[in-house]
Amino acid sequence: MATNSYRVAHTNATTENLDKQSSSVHQNDVARHAALDLTLYSVVCGTLKAAIELGVFEILAKAGASASQKSLTAKEIAEQLVRPTANGTAVNSGYLQRILRLLASVNIVSESVAVVAAAEPGNFTSYNTHHQRSYALTPIGKYFVQAEDGFSLAPVILMGEDWVFKKAFDHLSAAVLDDSVDPFVRAHGKSQFQLNNDDPRVDKLFNAAMSSHARIYMEALLGAYHGFQDVNCLVDVGGCTGASLALITAKYPHIRGINFDLPHVVATAPTYPRVEFVGGNMFESIPSGDAIFIKSVLHNWDDEHCMTILKNCFKALPSSGGKVIVMESVLPDSINLQYENGGVKPMLGLRLDIAMLAYSSGGAKERTLHEFQQLANVVGFASVALITTIDFFSVLEFTRVAA
Ligand SMILES: C[S@@+](CC[C@H](N)C(=O)[O-])C[C@H]1O[C@@H](n2cnc3c(N)ncnc32)[C@H](O)[C@@H]1O
Repeated sequence: MATNSYRVAHTNATTENLDKQSSSVHQNDVARHAALDLTLYSVVCGTLKAAIELGVFEILAKAGASASQKSLTAKEIAEQLVRPTANGTAVNSGYLQRILRLLASVNIVSESVAVVAAAEPGNFTSYNTHHQRSYALTPIGKYFVQAEDGFSLAPVILMGEDWVFKKAFDHLSAAVLDDSVDPFVRAHGKSQFQLNNDDPRVDKLFNAAMSSHARIYMEALLGAYHGFQDVNCLVDVGGCTGASLALITAKYPHIRGINFDLPHVVATAPTYPRVEFVGGNMFESIPSGDAIFIKSVLHNWDDEHCMTILKNCFKALPSSGGKVIVMESVLPDSINLQYENGGVKPMLGLRLDIAMLAYSSGGAKERTLHEFQQLANVVGFASVALITTIDFFSVLEFTRVAA
């Protein structure tokens, strides 16, 4: 019966109905696939962390740079892995190959398959023994090579995938139901900046992630933003260990830089030409300069704390003028989904927003342009201009005196 009624319905269906049906089937397929994708989302970052820890990207980078061998098999990579203790056990290159295949599926490495012998009928393992797979870095994978100069996103993965930061997410739902204690404090009994101060391992992990992130962005920023040209003394508020100022002063040697951060942070900073390190508390006062740079700092704080920081920035500028150069993710006023490569284009600023909710103190968030304008107006800045946006980070200028 069911088959007959289906046939009748099917015969009577207009082309338009068929189109509708097939498009709704297609939409269901797309939606189911996207939902399944989410169930396995975290596996990619966990796998990427493992590959970084093993040093796979450095091995592939070395091979890519050699004239003779551009790609390596899992076995060849395994032979180069550094092991703390061998204990007479063998490295499992089969596990490594599975890791590489997953990374190839998200275009972090590329896979080439060569047939090295005829397949044996009925032998299910023959695919692995008769096909040789080799791997090379893709342009995305190059971002995870840990380089001497620090231009790498590997430390950001190592931080985000570390248990200390992941544990904060265990307490995200509890914080929604009761916001009196922040997720990170629920997880660790103290704020993230306090934990950085108390635990040198976490401090190092965090500072390395911040510096790497800053280097990658600053390199892109310096090509697109030219507002440092007329600055003589630039103060980087919450500048961590000075990675941003090092690049700015290298491009603009006439600039004298002051890297301002908490005393325990500047104590571990390397030295850079023309960059002075000053330890202090931005909620009390900020060293004077004719411009202030503040990147990824306001998003750590609620509006009240941001106003205190911005008031201190305002006071640190010359009364005749000067500007605060703010670099943060600027959120859209509404979520307009954009599609690319068959999926939704990720709005990375919104991911960062939730990371701030998990890691930082209550009220920490990414903001819309309107929210930045409100903060600046209350503090007394004459104007706010969005100058440029690179990826999901924007540069805003808060000017002290109207032009
Ligand atoms: C998210 S990190 C951003 C670091 C850097 N600007 C960057 O973009 O890579 C925030 C920085 O603010 C610093 N910070 C936190 N509280 C501070 C305070 N009270 N005074 C000065 N700096 C502070 C932290 O030590 C950290 O380096």
